[in-house]
Amino acid sequence: HKPVRQVAVFGAGYIGLVTGACLAELGHRVVVRDIDPAKVALLRSGDVPIYEPGLGDLIARNKERLTFTTDLDETLHGAELAYVCVDTPPSSSGDADLSRVWSVVRSLEGAAHLRAVAMKSTVPVGTGTRVRAALDAGGLAHVGYAANPEFTAEGTAVHDFLHPDRIVIGASDEATAALISELHEGVDGPVVVMDVRSAEMVKLASNALLATKISFINEIATLCEKTGADVEEVARAVGLDHRLGPHFLRPGVGWGGSCFPKDSEALRQLASNTGYHLQLLSAVIEVNNLQKRRAVQKLKDELGTLTGMRVALLGLTFKPGTDDMREATSTVLASRLLAEGAEVRCWDPMARPAEVEPWVSTTRHATPELALEGADAAILVTEWPQLKDVDWAGAAAVMRRPVLFDGRNLLDPAGMRALGYTYMGVGRP
Ligand code: UDX
Repeated sequence: HKPVRQVAVFGAGYIGLVTGACLAELGHRVVVRDIDPAKVALLRSGDVPIYEPGLGDLIARNKERLTFTTDLDETLHGAELAYVCVDTPPSSSGDADLSRVWSVVRSLEGAAHLRAVAMKSTVPVGTGTRVRAALDAGGLAHVGYAANPEFTAEGTAVHDFLHPDRIVIGASDEATAALISELHEGVDGPVVVMDVRSAEMVKLASNALLATKISFINEIATLCEKTGADVEEVARAVGLDHRLGPHFLRPGVGWGGSCFPKDSEALRQLASNTGYHLQLLSAVIEVNNLQKRRAVQKLKDELGTLTGMRVALLGLTFKPGTDDMREATSTVLASRLLAEGAEVRCWDPMARPAEVEPWVSTTRHATPELALEGADAAILVTEWPQLKDVDWAGAAAVMRRPVLFDGRNLLDPAGMRALGYTYMGVGRP
């Protein structure tokens, strides 16, 4: 029989909610705390403030063991473990802003019944040492500390949590590592135990290498365009080499989201702070910045000018299967297009209106077809599956000019050209 633990989860964002719901699914008793009363009220009424497939069902199914609160005492009452799941957004220097982490650590003062504090938030290497010192100074020297980074991807987070490629636990003592490991009993994945700093580095290195793969294939895509090769064929065959693998070789309009941009910049700054310049990662970031701008340049080359042109953006979130707009390529495209004097129309099934309105001066449409009406060009930004089922023949008839840049290589070039489109993909002849 595996022991049931009482867990306090700090932060009800993408990571905190998934962590809390999944730990409850494993049988533990979980209290998730967030400082935002509106978010907590929503969760208590059975709603989920974010869109993450399967999360709502998981929360509902485990409601006996999973509660939400703003109250600190209620969160810590009887807790054996505290999970830090708050966000660490970029600060003005590019280093991760740890203010929310520190406020959680401070709030643990006096919680002498805790057995361990675990860090899920992505933090710079060395943070664990500082947290350790803060815990010691706050009378919690007997409480263990572990870095337990999270590798779930949005859109598949619940599945990723329960079936991970690995569970990384960085702890300075065996008892804490064993406690965190045992907490995950029932999770289908190997446990890898190491020291705290290495675990902190694993998270940053993994994200940086994934981003590197994408930037690499995006550069090869550009070269394919210049040489007449087809990057889709290239990526398929390159990915069959088991040493390279087929994943994260999809060319596109650049990577975005809440992790890659922030974590790659944070890793770069972490290196700079030690006096070392991470040249490869700097190039990876720069290639990504250029990739976003190249999309607008392609339209400009095709249309001659963007001034006065109506451009439809299809898909706004940083990837399909999420409502997350953080660092989405669409935001860069929209602001570049507006700066060029274009009129921007858009469609997305999940992006929250409040996050779109500040940068799109024009209308957001209910369907892709409506967004395409009267457009001089369109960019397929996010590969929502719905975009495969658009009435593209009908859309060609109502667009002012059927110019389409498929920024995700979602559609069939020959088929689209047969419908009369001036079709441009990424790295395809
Ligand atoms: C990522 C990591 O995958 C995850 O392990 C980590 O915990 C958090 O960061 P996420 O940001 O949710 O997850 O999404 P992911 O699926 O990795 O995509 C990131 C970005 O890369 C998206 O903008 C996506 O469109 C882009 N991408 C991904 C590509 O352009 N090509 C690819 O082949 C894969």
